[in-house]
Amino acid sequence: MSKEAINADLLSLCKRRGFVWPSFELYGGVAGMYDYGPLGSNMRNNIVEVWRDIYRGREGFIEIDSETVNPREVFKASGHVDEFADLVTYCGECESAFRADHLVKEFFDNPDVLSPKELDDAFVKHEIKCPECGGKLGQVEEFNLMFKTAIGPGSSRVGYLRPETAQGIFVNYLNLYRYNREKLPLGVIQTGRGYRNEIAPRQGMIRMREFNMMEVELFVDPDDKDWIRFREIENDLIALVPNTGTDTVTMTVGEAVEKGIIANRVLAYFVYTTQQFLTRLGIDPERLRFRQHLNDEMAHYAMDCWDAEVLLSYGWIEITGIADRGCWDLSRHAEFSGTELTHFKKFDEPREMEVDKVKAKHKALGPKFKEKAKTIAEAMEAKRPSDIKDGKLTLDLDGEDVILDGEFFEVVRIREKVSGERVVPHVIEPSHGLDRIFYSVLEHSFKHDEKEDYTVLRLVPDVAPIKVGIFPLMEKDGLDDLATDIYKRVHSPCMEAYYDGSGTIGKRYARMDEVGTPWCITVDYESLEGPNKGTVTIRERDTTAQKRIPSDSVPDILRSLLSGMSFEAL
Ligand code: ATP
Ligand code: GLY
Repeated sequence: MSKEAINADLLSLCKRRGFVWPSFELYGGVAGMYDYGPLGSNMRNNIVEVWRDIYRGREGFIEIDSETVNPREVFKASGHVDEFADLVTYCGECESAFRADHLVKEFFDNPDVLSPKELDDAFVKHEIKCPECGGKLGQVEEFNLMFKTAIGPGSSRVGYLRPETAQGIFVNYLNLYRYNREKLPLGVIQTGRGYRNEIAPRQGMIRMREFNMMEVELFVDPDDKDWIRFREIENDLIALVPNTGTDTVTMTVGEAVEKGIIANRVLAYFVYTTQQFLTRLGIDPERLRFRQHLNDEMAHYAMDCWDAEVLLSYGWIEITGIADRGCWDLSRHAEFSGTELTHFKKFDEPREMEVDKVKAKHKALGPKFKEKAKTIAEAMEAKRPSDIKDGKLTLDLDGEDVILDGEFFEVVRIREKVSGERVVPHVIEPSHGLDRIFYSVLEHSFKHDEKEDYTVLRLVPDVAPIKVGIFPLMEKDGLDDLATDIYKRVHSPCMEAYYDGSGTIGKRYARMDEVGTPWCITVDYESLEGPNKGTVTIRERDTTAQKRIPSDSVPDILRSLLSGMSFEAL
């Protein structure tokens, strides 16, 4: 089956069976916007649960849910207002918009590192015209991808829809740090919508304008970029494409760190965790690789970045980015908000060090503040030099702000024994695109037998939107009552069951296979009388093997199968 046919068949299945629908079809649709139907929503939630199981369950990270509309200040500090742009060109005739780098893909390995001028030159050199009408393309320019809005009436406060969920975690750093009892490492996860006003979304769910993310932000000590479980996985293999070439090299995670290919152990651990996560969802390991960003391809905040790429009918596509964001985000938010965002790192033994201190100028304070001068001096000397803003210190004295300028204090450098120092944590970020992962899992699970014209989605049970189909052979003679009773005992939020009493059993199996249901239960006449009374058949999707099991044990057996027991063990 050709790549295009797989893509077309899968998209049609998604629409027909209620996985994904193009949004607003009633009004002609909007490019890059999709709604999840009932099966799609189930499957998407199941993917999120596997992600939670790894990060909250295994790694002990905490989860938050922050606002999607953020004031401009947040994205000014994060760099998105100034940097988060793609390069656009408009056709001079039909006015269609195109991502300029996409038009020169066949001539460059990495066209997204080209400047506007280089792209203009490439259009001339390679005689590139408008793909829609053949018209002349206009000058390449920057287009900021954030959706702008106003918070409240009028335009008093500019806001943006978040292009990543990550900033909601960074601006909550102090709350999270306190919650974590001021300790590092501090791992935080968040899932939710991200919004990017993509220039020309043309690849289905790969490029959406409103999409779902599962982001992980791990705050670590900059001098200790290690991970406690690294030893457990250091001998496991991973397929890497380092930025020194274009070949894929498979090596152990330990080797990748030792050779300096992946910058540090904690980053390597989470690159590998991404491999574990994606393969657990059913991504084919043979069609998965990790590609390192070129230095000029890296996002404005990143020190090192690896993309998990999967081979799809669209080619190799990034589905997760794993970045070492260094101290970029916390330093910038500290600078722009005027609030220190650090971690206090205790030394094993107190050390003698040179430190800067705020010192009160008693001679100036006395005449001005009289009997209050002593209290003010003490409050002042309890402050840190970083608390001085625009040359002034603000003190809270009995609930009242007292603002003092440099006439009343100075910063002096002294040597003293200190118990620790303040450092800006570094951030390691695995950022997963939920919709791209969702689509990739579907494509890697899609099997179509052309001879039989039969489709099976070989979804792993954890991800499958329906876990079990329950059928009475006929909807009569009490077969339907027993099937309904089994359905009621089985169906729950973690064991989605589907009752189907219509059509031949073959058709009912086919309907379940097509949406990836791993097991089906059939109630037949033997269930009601004869030597097999009290039993039903269970069928496994991938082998089509069938066994008889006691009808009373159906819920327990399904739970065991879902927990990983093999069908043969039944
Ligand atoms: P691309 O280069 O393909 O635009 P990106 O490098 O901008 O992707 P990131 O900024 O690293 O992507 O975003 C993290 C993840 O979010 C991506 O790996 C991807 O899975 C997902 N993602 C980003 N943009 C979109 C989009 N427009 N539609 C769907 N998913 C997206
Ligand atoms: N938070 C990573 C990204 O959106 O690129």
